[in-house]
Amino acid sequence: MWKLFPPISESSPDAAGSLAQDVFPECVPDSSTSSTHPFCYASTWKEAHACDQNADRLRNLDLIINRNYATTPNTDYLCILMKTELLQYLVCPTCKGQISPKINKKVKNEIITGTLNCRNCKNTFLITQGIPRFVTDKTKDFVKTEDSFSAKWRTHHKNHQANDWIEFQQKWFLDRFDWKSIAQFNNFLNDKKYVLEAGTGVDNTAKMLSINPTSQVFAIDASESIDFAYKKYGHTPNLHFLQADLRELPFKMKFFDYILSDQVLHHTKNTFTSFKYLTKFLSKKGYISIYVYNKKAPIREHTDDYLRKTTVNLSVKNCMEFSKDMALLGKSLSKLNKKIIIPRDIAILGIKAGTYDVQRFIY
Ligand SMILES: C[S@@+](CC[C@H](N)C(=O)[O-])C[C@H]1O[C@@H](n2cnc3c(N)ncnc32)[C@H](O)[C@@H]1O
Ligand SMILES: [Zn+2]
Repeated sequence: MWKLFPPISESSPDAAGSLAQDVFPECVPDSSTSSTHPFCYASTWKEAHACDQNADRLRNLDLIINRNYATTPNTDYLCILMKTELLQYLVCPTCKGQISPKINKKVKNEIITGTLNCRNCKNTFLITQGIPRFVTDKTKDFVKTEDSFSAKWRTHHKNHQANDWIEFQQKWFLDRFDWKSIAQFNNFLNDKKYVLEAGTGVDNTAKMLSINPTSQVFAIDASESIDFAYKKYGHTPNLHFLQADLRELPFKMKFFDYILSDQVLHHTKNTFTSFKYLTKFLSKKGYISIYVYNKKAPIREHTDDYLRKTTVNLSVKNCMEFSKDMALLGKSLSKLNKKIIIPRDIAILGIKAGTYDVQRFIY
């Protein structure tokens, strides 16, 4: 027997209850039992999670309803707070109309599927493997970009989610955004209730953003990275995963207190309009942090133009091989550890007089 705790009527009605029943059809609501686990026969949260079937279903249900659960300190029972919160924040990315969920009962291997339907423009968005899918752009360039990111994450998600990589990235993140320490960054996050990471990759940074349990962090990416992110961090109560396009967000305007988009915007068709679009989702006192690649000196830019033209026609496999060759070249140049002195400005190449590291100068 399952029972929602606190009872559904105490927070938002109907939706959570009917969703729970869709997901756990074998359970019937029982208002007389308060001592059993809300969604199954297990008596504790740990027990419920020990059972793989329930763990997956709980995670998925939780995602659809809200993801904002907690364990009560004494009873260890799963509580669902603000159950329909995620739904309440989501709108149709295309027309900003209200969307309503429909859980598809063709659930195989405990994977939850369903749809989110726009009441206004009648657009339908899939929920598969516990993740709402909002990306609509079918243009060739966008699809190609996201396909190659998906291929990258499929091949490399493990090393990008390894502890040493996460540590290295965190230090680099603090350095680039000029935070003096992680404590200072956490302090900044303290009063940021709604946070968006646009283009999260495999989500290590969004995990960092979710430090404050009273905040709600939404991690979006247009690629398959979001599935790897969800697998690793899906249990984090205040972290939500959506496959979405940062240029067509399924949120209300002026919603976020903080938006971070790290190494992403230059991958979109128009960096500036993408940035401007994101700022429309900031609350009045909201903050945004972005990191985009710097424009390099002309030697490098000309080389990059040539490389882009050539590599765009390569298969993903060949492109990866080429990238390895380039990385080896970079390492060899770096090992030289030599400086080059440029005696005078070379205006036409945009190079200022000065001393440069050879690797940085060439590569
Ligand atoms: C270089 S990765 C950076 C990932 C992550 N921010 C990090 O620092 O590790 C760029 C990511 O941006 C995502 N991306 C690019 N264009 C996007 C768009 N229009 N909407 C959402 N994500 C996008 C890609 O799928 C990719 O995962
Ligand atoms: Zn719509």
